Amino acid sequence: MDIEKILSETDLAAKAPVSEPERQYYYIGKARELVRRRAEEAGHPLRFCVTTFGCQMNARDSEKLAGILKQIGYVEEPDEDKADFVIFNTCTVRENANQRVYGRLGQLHHEKKKRPDMLIGLCGCMMQEPGVVEKLKKSYRFVDLIFGTHNIYKFAELIVTRLMSDRMVIDIWKDTDQIVENLPNDRKYSFKSGVNIMFGCNNFCSYCIVPYVRGRERSREPEDILAEIDCMVRDGVVEVMLLGQNVNSYGKNLKNPITFARLLEQVEQIGGLERIRFMTSHPKDLSDELIEVMAHSKKICKQMHLPLQSGSSRLLKIMNRHYTKEDYLLLVEKIRKAVPDISLTTDIIVGFPGETEEDFKETIDVVNKVEFDSAFTFIYSRRTGTPAAAMENQVPEGIVKERFDRLLSAVQEISARKTAGAVGTVQDVLVEEINAQDASLVTGRTSQNYIVHFAGSPSQIGSIVPVRLDESRGFYYMGTQII
Ligand code: 5AD
Ligand code: SF4
Repeated sequence: MDIEKILSETDLAAKAPVSEPERQYYYIGKARELVRRRAEEAGHPLRFCVTTFGCQMNARDSEKLAGILKQIGYVEEPDEDKADFVIFNTCTVRENANQRVYGRLGQLHHEKKKRPDMLIGLCGCMMQEPGVVEKLKKSYRFVDLIFGTHNIYKFAELIVTRLMSDRMVIDIWKDTDQIVENLPNDRKYSFKSGVNIMFGCNNFCSYCIVPYVRGRERSREPEDILAEIDCMVRDGVVEVMLLGQNVNSYGKNLKNPITFARLLEQVEQIGGLERIRFMTSHPKDLSDELIEVMAHSKKICKQMHLPLQSGSSRLLKIMNRHYTKEDYLLLVEKIRKAVPDISLTTDIIVGFPGETEEDFKETIDVVNKVEFDSAFTFIYSRRTGTPAAAMENQVPEGIVKERFDRLLSAVQEISARKTAGAVGTVQDVLVEEINAQDASLVTGRTSQNYIVHFAGSPSQIGSIVPVRLDESRGFYYMGTQII
């Protein structure tokens, strides 16, 4: 996409186009003028800082925000306190994420009192939650811009509205089936990128707020996904992470339905692309076809994130997960048979309403049987509006804490044992960055997504090199490049 060419052909004196993305190109042009004037008044280029909370989806959305901000003339500033425009891209999966945002806003208020020209924007999942916008309107009047998860593509338009009006701008949509393509984005890494393949979720797991804040499932057209990846690869990307709340149900609601496995096969065909990852997989929708494709693929990484949530079939039913403990174990067996050295990671919730010691022991049993390479363990958080929040048998905090600690040590012990097992092997490592502590080292990831530090140079960033894993230190390895 040549945005300069598009902008040079856009008549900014005319009315805004109604169709997308042309409308947003128009507003990018408008915003540029306004930002240039503000920068002249300030005597320096305007600086932005986007802070991302939560998951990979949000990280990708933040790249889209940054892309638009750069297009309209802002420069990136890592320090929130120095930025002229601070944006929090929020998460609301667990309550403590919301508390952190309110805390950070309190701090920013002090800064804004000193610098009234500073802009503060809030977006992401938390904004889609009922009550949050009311609270912000009442107690956080200094916020300039509030928008949700369905209309981030309108960012340039919202900025123009704010700069022209001087009032708090709020634009939240309940839901949409619109997907707007071909807008700027600014990748954090030059050599790897997330790629949205679908938005929203239809599963309504009974503890989860995501379907309420991200809306119904919508898949992008395969041609659009392939064109985007192709473009990225020509721009230096060697690894993509296909993103969706439940990638295994990709394509079901398209006019010409297609399975996730078929999409993967097509992505695999893209010349120059070296590695493919994806997340998240829902066990209930993971097909034999996908396992088959993974077994024969040369590019799909040997890694899968397969959230378990609980090992108790009784609780899984109440969670609305649509699989049993036995289904899950069988699935893992199938995957391991097809891809023997695959790394499996998972999410587990402790303290779901009504969880008994017996239920919890079932979870530990699955953890011991599957031997996850790593697991994200979460204390159940009561999210207003979800069915689980209304359940009466919430588990007392002390019991949850105690179970959480037991689970964590089980997970860590297995994880350490598994990583130690790979010492001595040689793995292909994608070099990602200079080591933050020791500049003579570089840091990269194996196909299994393990982190490896080894002696190397900045020129290697973005390339894949063979590295022997010499020593495992819990979550990472020290290695030596094989020449
Ligand atoms: N409480 C705790 N963890 C949750 N997750 C989702 N909702 C909740 C909740 N209410 C976890 C699930 C999911 C991950 C992204 O967050 O494990 O897989
Ligand atoms: Fe939430 Fe379940 Fe959807 Fe995952 S699949 S986002 S846990 S509702």
